[in-house]
Amino acid sequence: MQTGNANNMLKELLLKYNRPGPRYTSYPPANFFTEKTSVENFKSVLIKSNKEKPENISLYFHVPFCPQLCHFCGCNTDEMLKMSVVELYFKAMLTEIDNISALLSKDRKVTQIHWGGGTPNSVAFKFIEEVMLKLKNIFTLAPNAEIAMECSPAYISKDYINKLRSVGFNRISLGVQDFNEKVLEVVNRAAPRYPIEEIIADIREAGFEGVNIDLIYGLPLQTEESYLKTIERALKLRPDRLVTFSYAHVPWVKSAQKKLEKYGLPSPEEKLEMLLSGYSKITEAGYEAIGMDHFALMSDELAIAKNEKLLHRNFQGYCTKETTGQVYSFGSTGINQLHDAYFQSAKSTSEYIRLINETGFANIKGYELSIEEKAIRRMINEIMCNGILDFKDLALEFNLSVEALKKICKFEESKFAEFIADNLMHYENNKLNVTENGMMVVRNIAMTFDPNLAENVNMYSKTI
Ligand SMILES: C[S@@+](CC[C@H](N)C(=O)[O-])C[C@H]1O[C@@H](n2cnc3c(N)ncnc32)[C@H](O)[C@@H]1O
Ligand code: SF4
Repeated sequence: MQTGNANNMLKELLLKYNRPGPRYTSYPPANFFTEKTSVENFKSVLIKSNKEKPENISLYFHVPFCPQLCHFCGCNTDEMLKMSVVELYFKAMLTEIDNISALLSKDRKVTQIHWGGGTPNSVAFKFIEEVMLKLKNIFTLAPNAEIAMECSPAYISKDYINKLRSVGFNRISLGVQDFNEKVLEVVNRAAPRYPIEEIIADIREAGFEGVNIDLIYGLPLQTEESYLKTIERALKLRPDRLVTFSYAHVPWVKSAQKKLEKYGLPSPEEKLEMLLSGYSKITEAGYEAIGMDHFALMSDELAIAKNEKLLHRNFQGYCTKETTGQVYSFGSTGINQLHDAYFQSAKSTSEYIRLINETGFANIKGYELSIEEKAIRRMINEIMCNGILDFKDLALEFNLSVEALKKICKFEESKFAEFIADNLMHYENNKLNVTENGMMVVRNIAMTFDPNLAENVNMYSKTI
């Protein structure tokens, strides 16, 4: 990252490209999923997925409970309900595991297990244990499988950490968000149960291979100075991975976010200062930037995959092409991210439990991809993760001509002339390469390959 004048130039560029657009955790984005789906469709796609690539398996478990809701939260979660609801929820999840796994070939190995939410570590450990033991009975885990949980420091304890390790977890993502107590207070976030430094020491002592820290910038009361203090404190802990989420303010979707407006939110310019100075500080401390807001130690497999152009992304975040598989999802909200289709479960906890009890499955939305959409998905993924796109390679992979591929994505050089003029990408010989600065606005570049974008672009949050 540059300094002085070059940094100012980058700032101007980022402001210029601060436009609404999808995050492309999937293509097509989740708002394209439709209700025209059925249990029969889902079952047949599950069976077909056994023979598709990638052949390894990723499993996602969603726990939609939080004892206290943060006003900034964009995730799908409910305030912790009665214990009986948690019990019914996990009972439904165990049924769902039986029903989905019955259709999956057991020759394939599980390379990734991810628990997210909500706050999975806010439920009694016995629920997690029961699921993990069941999985081990059904599936074969790859020896280097990544088994991770998103944890809130407000509900964690040494005992819980040791128990997670005992059932195979090897990575914890700790949602620190901000070290500043006043910021946590105005966003209604429960404070850590004990100091983050001690929590991380306990995680390492228990033998976890990886610790991630999540931070978020753009919240009320945050300034560039206060945010940098938070980053410095996080860096002292040397997490393997650090994520600095840009706060997505979408009160038309998440009404609780309106409560933050009375404190005043940092302007896009202020957020940009936070982004850029945070980025410099983190990369100067020896971290490799993975996209705009993910960072990994140079020795971490994500950093290695980035340099080898083997990064991948799914709804759970960045991963390597080796670890990621087709994603089978369990629990409310979760999205099955398969070779041929996406299927999403009911978002409401009660609806999820009802559907599982009545039909055995809970998917209410889906999207089956045409061959053309699969090609666009590959293009967008390669650009977003690895900053490259080689039409000739892609043509071979999809058994199509370069011209046919270009027609599919409505390719026109004029669409990205502005990026080339701003030195954000190069295009030559049917090959696109995004520059280091270009990776900061890679979402905008990816958008030019999305033929269906124009109609509803304003519903998305902005890049910064
Ligand atoms: C499911 S939460 C993490 C686990 C746990 N519930 C916690 O809060 O620590 C996943 C991450 O999403 C991020 N996040 C939540 N709401 C967001 C928003 N509106 N904009 C950007 N990031 C957000 C937070 O940084 C959070 O760590
Ligand atoms: S940020 Fe985490 S703890 Fe806060 S409401 Fe969202 S999921 Fe729950």
